[in-house]
Amino acid sequence: MGELVLGNAAQIIEVVELVATVDTSYPVLLTLLRLKRGGLELDRSCSQVIARAMDRDPSRVFQLAQWVEAICSISEAGVIDRCVSVSCTSNGAQNLWRVLEPEMKSLGLDTRVHPVHCLARCENGPCLALVDEIYLGESESIHEDDRPWREAPFDQDL
Ligand code: FES
Repeated sequence: MGELVLGNAAQIIEVVELVATVDTSYPVLLTLLRLKRGGLELDRSCSQVIARAMDRDPSRVFQLAQWVEAICSISEAGVIDRCVSVSCTSNGAQNLWRVLEPEMKSLGLDTRVHPVHCLARCENGPCLALVDEIYLGESESIHEDDRPWREAPFDQDL
């Protein structure tokens, strides 16, 4: 676990307090993106400060922090999928994107986000996916993308 630098803790708390003034259902994701934009490493110590300040599960926050680190170091060909299907839309996909877009723009990632139709986690959306992990807006948590057809393409004989 990384050492917690006092100045970093103060910066984290400042961002948590700023995000608390934003009308959003996705405060952990927004906090992590803003901290990343501020040049902070999203390590376990950082996640613990956020979890304590926001009364969240530290391991879930750390998982999400690692996911944010992954999207920030996405490869040239990498794409972040943003579900725009019916369930995610009715679960707040527009609101999520409204909050997310300026952060992604600042990180130079907005053009890497592509709309897709359904990531098969409809009841937990709005959803975003990177490679084999999905961000579930409902719980602000990361889950494995276990859509079966990703592993076993359609049967050619059908
Ligand atoms: S509608 Fe978004 S995951 Fe299905």
